[in-house]
Amino acid sequence: MSGSGFFLSFEGADGSGKSTQAKRLAADLRAEGYDVVLTREPGGSTGAEEIRRLLVEGEPNRWSPKTEILLFTAARRDHIERTILPALAQGKIVISDRFADSTRVYQGAARAELRALVDTLHRLVIGRVPDLTLVIDIDAKTGLKRGLARNSGEDRFEELGAGFQQKLRDGYRRLLTDFPDRCIGIDGNGDEAAVAQRVRAALKGHLP
Ligand SMILES: Nc1ncnc2c1ncn2[C@@H]1O[C@H](COP(=O)(O)OP(=O)(O)OP(=O)(O)O)[C@@H](O)[C@H]1O
Ligand SMILES: [Mg+2]
Repeated sequence: MSGSGFFLSFEGADGSGKSTQAKRLAADLRAEGYDVVLTREPGGSTGAEEIRRLLVEGEPNRWSPKTEILLFTAARRDHIERTILPALAQGKIVISDRFADSTRVYQGAARAELRALVDTLHRLVIGRVPDLTLVIDIDAKTGLKRGLARNSGEDRFEELGAGFQQKLRDGYRRLLTDFPDRCIGIDGNGDEAAVAQRVRAALKGHLP
């Protein structure tokens, strides 16, 4: 905990249900009287949303892995400066649909040795981790099906295929063992309400 506010992130592979659950939780907490800022990555601030378009649209291989990490980190710096830290300073609950763990897992899945670069950049220019991270897990095929069914036009990562999705799932599982104090795994199978119930159970005792 950061003294004031509470910083929660949702993580998990494509189509695992992060956006659905983040939105639902924000609405539920607001109804209970909490002041909630719902935000997302890449994006979450004006500048970072502009960088998002460079990252999620276009050719799957348009950026080299290192360039991609720098773009994600630039977007995250703007996001944390303009959106997250000010909200936390005002005592709000910040729910971010993805955060730094996504970069760690995706870029680590593409090229394992890049994870060190992600960690170093995070330490140098971001320096803030969520108070709690909920990692939603479903099998790779279900996730891919759910993700592509949306037809969002932001399918650059989905289009990298099922093998990549399996690597992502493994990477997300590893997060749970790498950061056991901050990360909780959520079973993403079943309908939205069932998953939402697991989310609330995981939050018990954590919210201010
Ligand atoms: N529990 C669920 N059961 C069935 N469908 C679901 C469930 N949760 C979400 N969906 C649907 O699956 C699709 C993907 O869900 P969502 O957008 O929440 O995933 P996501 O993790 O945010 O994906 P991405 O990483 O691609 O942003 C959406 O069309 C959503 O309506
Ligand atoms: Mg989403």
